[in-house]
Amino acid sequence: MANPIIPWMGGKRRLADKLIPMFPAHECYVELFAGGAALFFLKGHQPQCEVLNDINGELINLYRVVQHHLEEFVRQFKWAISSRQVFKWMQDSPTEPMTDIQRAARFYYLQHHAFGGRVSGQTFGTATTGPAINLCRIEEGLSAAHLRLAGVYVEHLPWDECLRRYDRPRTFFYADPPYWETEGYGVDFGWDQYERLADLMASCAGKVMFSINDHPDIRRLFSQFHQLGLDIKYSNGNQATGAPKTSRELVITNWDPATFGQLF
Ligand SMILES: C[S@@+](CC[C@H](N)C(=O)[O-])C[C@H]1O[C@@H](n2cnc3c(N)ncnc32)[C@H](O)[C@@H]1O
Repeated sequence: MANPIIPWMGGKRRLADKLIPMFPAHECYVELFAGGAALFFLKGHQPQCEVLNDINGELINLYRVVQHHLEEFVRQFKWAISSRQVFKWMQDSPTEPMTDIQRAARFYYLQHHAFGGRVSGQTFGTATTGPAINLCRIEEGLSAAHLRLAGVYVEHLPWDECLRRYDRPRTFFYADPPYWETEGYGVDFGWDQYERLADLMASCAGKVMFSINDHPDIRRLFSQFHQLGLDIKYSNGNQATGAPKTSRELVITNWDPATFGQLF
């Protein structure tokens, strides 16, 4: 089985064993806000059609490069080391003169060394609990991801445009947008976007699972849908004590959860 290829703030790896069994039967799987795409990489079932979409162009370029130019991508890391100075140089390097493969390598390096999988405002992250990424051994994981990405549509669209294009009764959309009242992806995601999601969940042909931080405003806006609260533990909790941060996640669906667990 493949694993996510980069750490990503708000990644759903820790919720995968709770969310994936809730997926309804589907022939087309779409992640509207793919990010690190934890559920895509960890779910076993591969339907006829799969789509990863995100507004972050560097991320989408990375997935495309791993899909199509894996060998050359891995070669970029032949003599690479994990270093605060290299991290800083990468951050300061203009991307305009780079090829897509060089841009993907820069993005992969920064994302693997950024504290907490942050996407904007990155700082060099270290932990006293484990080693840095072994850049000489990335090929194995990336090869599995390369195979997993074969035949997947990789889209770079605003989420609502992606939903419109793939909306069919056979489609299952997983929607994991930025948390309400939380920043960190370098893009605005205002209240109007959640209102639009509520409207589209009510009117679209496909099934939608929406995961979000549990907040009274969100509960109210999505009150017409099925809601389920789940606990999630994050590793970037208290660095000094090592105590994990726990928060509550809300899972909202536009179909009846009585059918949860009836998989494929
Ligand atoms: C919570 S993260 C997704 C995490 C992902 N589920 C995972 O497991 O790693 C939210 C993602 O939404 C993306 N995003 C923000 N605004 C967007 C938009 N308007 N359309 C599409 N994607 C957007 C961000 O780039 C970010 O990758």
